[in-house]
Amino acid sequence: MEACKLSVVKLGGAALTFKSRRETIDWGNLRLAASQLSQYRGGGGLLVVVHGGGSFGHKTVVDILKSKGSLDPGDSSVIQESMLRLALEVVKVLKDAGLKPTLHPPHSICWGGSVGSCSLTVIERDLKLGLTPVTYGDSIPEEGGSAIISGDDLAADIAVKLKADCLVFAIRAPGVLDSEGRVMPLVFSLNQVKVFESRGFDVTGGIRRKVESALRASEFVGNVRIVGLESLLEALLGGDVGTRVKRI
Ligand code: IPE
Repeated sequence: MEACKLSVVKLGGAALTFKSRRETIDWGNLRLAASQLSQYRGGGGLLVVVHGGGSFGHKTVVDILKSKGSLDPGDSSVIQESMLRLALEVVKVLKDAGLKPTLHPPHSICWGGSVGSCSLTVIERDLKLGLTPVTYGDSIPEEGGSAIISGDDLAADIAVKLKADCLVFAIRAPGVLDSEGRVMPLVFSLNQVKVFESRGFDVTGGIRRKVESALRASEFVGNVRIVGLESLLEALLGGDVGTRVKRI
């Protein structure tokens, strides 16, 4: 495939953090992602980055649910704070790698818990200015609760609305795995996904949700892939790596 011209890259929370340790960043993986994104951008490709929650957002939500059973609107405050802590570190590492990231927290651009309620105008503005807009999975207060916006859904929606040619989900595993642990080169239906990550605290649906978002976007975006974080640049250069997702 051709090298990507306008890419939306979702950096999975489980790849950027150690999920078993509260608010712990995997600095090696974060820097590895940043250097590949910087090389891609250096070659002229445009980029929007979306990152996940890992042991920041997910763990905070699960801790609140364990202690009182449900989320109220005020809980968005601590979840947002936790996600902002991670987002600031992501932005710093992207900047150190030579990119010009601009951070757009979903709680400032989305009205409700569905991605359709997010306004992408500031993201489009920054893209046109040659910057690298960054957003992430977040919590949005709503009547009677706190909604969680999945970064996977957000990435898919941004890719479709901005008419990106590539949507790449970078994860800790080398792609979507079959029951023998082998990378599946192509996923065209959710029924093919039989292996579930043993994620202790995923409040937005793990690999299945990711594949669902990817399948939906693949009706509009030409190159949709779920790849190991170390193969991110190869994917952005048009390489046949990880798992291609294409609804047929
Ligand atoms: C989750 O975002 C955000 C919160 C729980 C607040 P994602 O669903 O995109 O996170 P990962 O990539 O699965 O960790």
